[in-house]
Amino acid sequence: MGSARIVVIGTGYVGLTTGACLASLGHQVTCVDVDAVKVARLAAGRVDILEPGLEELVARGLAAGRLTFVVGSRQAVADAEAVFLCVPTPMGAGGGADLRAVEAVIDEIAGSLPPGCAVITKSTVPVGTAQRIRALLGRPDVPVVANPEFLREGTAVADFLNPDRIVVGADDEAAAQWVAGLYADLAAPSVVTDAASAELVKYAANCFLAMKLSYVNAIAELCERLGADIESVTEGMGYDRRIGRSFLKPGPGWGGSCLPKDTHALVQVAESVGFDFSLLSAAIQENIAQRDRIVAKIAGTVGTLAGARIGVLGLAFKAGTSDLRDSPALSVTAMLAAHGAEVTAYDPAVGGELPGMRVVDDPYQTAKGADALVVLTEWDEFRRLDWNYVAELMHGDSVVDTRNLLDPRSVLAAGLSWLGLGRPRARALAG
Ligand code: UDX
Repeated sequence: MGSARIVVIGTGYVGLTTGACLASLGHQVTCVDVDAVKVARLAAGRVDILEPGLEELVARGLAAGRLTFVVGSRQAVADAEAVFLCVPTPMGAGGGADLRAVEAVIDEIAGSLPPGCAVITKSTVPVGTAQRIRALLGRPDVPVVANPEFLREGTAVADFLNPDRIVVGADDEAAAQWVAGLYADLAAPSVVTDAASAELVKYAANCFLAMKLSYVNAIAELCERLGADIESVTEGMGYDRRIGRSFLKPGPGWGGSCLPKDTHALVQVAESVGFDFSLLSAAIQENIAQRDRIVAKIAGTVGTLAGARIGVLGLAFKAGTSDLRDSPALSVTAMLAAHGAEVTAYDPAVGGELPGMRVVDDPYQTAKGADALVVLTEWDEFRRLDWNYVAELMHGDSVVDTRNLLDPRSVLAAGLSWLGLGRPRARALAG
């Protein structure tokens, strides 16, 4: 396929990555947002999202004249061949996805879409959304296509351009094939199917990852109780090709903008068709329990949290992003504060004011006078801290490493104590 005229509505993580990457594949892309200030910044090449490679790609698209940013979707779609919906679908009341942003866009563009223009959902939408959009549009001449994204924050551009698979679903098969063709230059298998299946793939995959993580966190807890080492256990599991090595690292719980909302949404969708997805509900419960266990672990090192000074390293839901949405680090710090601890936190990508803690711009400031220091996000720079200096600054001596990130030997060598997840101290030290 040659170049297509594409409109991308919404310029968040998903929309901006989609727009810039489609432009880099040679398509003519117009990105639309309601936020005029954001549009002006983007048109000037200013990208406010921390996403490696994205700013360069936007600059290249702008320079080549293949990428433009505008306000107002009605005019933008008037001569489009494809419209990608990349607006937020947050968790609504009751756990289901809130589709108001999608519905508002459909309402706005319905009368302006040229005949045959494909309307494509990119944001994660509940199964049945394509059908609902078709009804809302009232345009039998406009195919509705589900084409979920599988982008991870921090590697979104690389994930888009080098995907494991392309999933496209529509009840109009020719339309699905045409949309799959937009990605023809990418060397990836494509699954072309019906709309409901394409919509479900996204949930089924994300919820599987969430269950895998809850499982690993539970196994790490068992390791602690049984004197086993999670590092060896997951290494041994990971060699099994049916399991694989990724998503086997224990942590303070899974978070971010996708897994929490998608797990809740799938439980709710299942409920709506009379199926009790207790397996997935248990994974969600386990994720809550994990945070409680982390707080108890920290409390155990300081005696009582009331009045304790806790230094926190890392606030983002994972390393490589400044995103705080549903970050387990934030819920752990909130619980610490609720128990009366005084929290001082540092994250290389997060600044400004946050409730219940003092945010500092230097990791060593979190150690000053601290009774315990807690690693909550796996930023590489924490591995290279000067532990002797940290020990001098601290009041207590506990380092709780909820990501098993640090080299325990360097922490111990500074006269501090190290407590990881699912790891007996002696094994970790023999390392
Ligand atoms: C996820 C999916 O991976 C992606 O396919 C989907 O499109 C969007 O949601 P993302 O939210 O960017 O991507 O984060 P991801 O890298 O998947 O991590 C999710 C959470 O699991 C994070 O809180 C992370 O810290 C945690 N995690 C991940 C672990 O605790 N251990 C691991 O081994 C992997």
